[in-house]
Amino acid sequence: MENGLKKSVFKGNKALEAADAISIRGVLNMLNDNLSGDDNKPSIPLGHGDPSVFPCFRTTAIAEDAIVDAVRSAEFNCYSPPIGILPARRAIAAYLSQDISYQLSPDDVYLTVGCNNSIEVIISVLASPSANILLPRPGYPMYESRAAFSNLEVRHFDLVPEKGWQVDLDSVEALADENTVAMVIVNPGNPCGSVFTYQHLKKVAETAKKLGIFVIADEVYDHLTFGSNPFVPMGKFGSIVPVLTLGSISKRWIVPGWRLGWIVTCDPTGSLKKSRIAESIRRYLNISADPPTLIQGAIPQILEKTKDDFFVKIIKICSQAADICYDRLKEIPCITCPHKPEGSMFVMVKLNVSLLEDIDDDIDFCLKLAREESVIVLPGVAVGLKNWLRVTFAVEPSTLEEGLGRIKTFYNRHMKQQ
Ligand SMILES: Cc1ncc(COP(=O)(O)O)c(C=O)c1O
Repeated sequence: MENGLKKSVFKGNKALEAADAISIRGVLNMLNDNLSGDDNKPSIPLGHGDPSVFPCFRTTAIAEDAIVDAVRSAEFNCYSPPIGILPARRAIAAYLSQDISYQLSPDDVYLTVGCNNSIEVIISVLASPSANILLPRPGYPMYESRAAFSNLEVRHFDLVPEKGWQVDLDSVEALADENTVAMVIVNPGNPCGSVFTYQHLKKVAETAKKLGIFVIADEVYDHLTFGSNPFVPMGKFGSIVPVLTLGSISKRWIVPGWRLGWIVTCDPTGSLKKSRIAESIRRYLNISADPPTLIQGAIPQILEKTKDDFFVKIIKICSQAADICYDRLKEIPCITCPHKPEGSMFVMVKLNVSLLEDIDDDIDFCLKLAREESVIVLPGVAVGLKNWLRVTFAVEPSTLEEGLGRIKTFYNRHMKQQ
């Protein structure tokens, strides 16, 4: 006995250690622990996906009022049904139907505690001893972490930087076998800032159809685009291949703390119902926690009343920040950017460590950058690409300029002397 507990029963959960070792939060915590602590250099976070702390990214008053109205109505103090309340599901079905050619029903919509919870639900539902799932590399590591925890085999297909980070569809075909259940795409892309064209998404759908698998489309950055490609929802191709769309209000409304997301079956042919995936999602939600009813109660007002000028303002800030980021990073010789970001909040850049004196790899670069310059940037290895970096540009412009300037100073200090 030690501290009144039996010694041998709990030795730490090894599966959790493995799942957390590949999480973004784990890596960012490690970098934050290495910050210089120099009061003259306030830390600059260029590794996160949450701009809500910056005044210029404050959400719209319409969304704030919707929450206040929901609280004051006293209608949403109750437990919610496991799949979510009907008015919220109806509003989400209507919101997503605007951009596709068929009508979604509230029965297609399952509410979740943010898109991370959507990922948890779907990976848990799909996990079975022989099954495998195809994930993009680089990607959003919550998929890997949840799959590791649920013992679902993962196979990676590549995104090709020289082709605007499009999916290498040949590698998808080569990886799939009779046990593959689904492939995941993230569009607009995290970590690449890419936006897929209509034609490319159609090819993704056709490839998945050929392989007999469905597509999980992570569209948490829906409509956050500022390049030449408009946002095209994968659900448009639902009659070619069944699509599970994952989303939330976290990014478009810049309220990730409100924790409201969804899983939507975009499946006009009813295949997901026939294959009992929809039923399994319901069963999973019966045994898990629901998003707060009051946020669900606010959803119709948020989705229906937010004015375009709010979205336009946010996109303008992101677009200008992406330009600043791309231009400043280009001035740093050890960094190359194969593709200018066109959406989401991130850019992936390649790090040439051979131009640096005493830097081993991307992790070493990010650790020393945190320690010496109090700038946090995510090492590429955390999203599947060693010796790359993921830089967030969704930051107050003056802070972004300062952060990029410090990265340049860091390069000047560490560059290899000729
Ligand atoms: C690709 C991707 N999916 C899902 C999420 C999680 O979204 P949420 O904040 O709604 O849980 C994120 C958050 O950064 C993300 O980048």
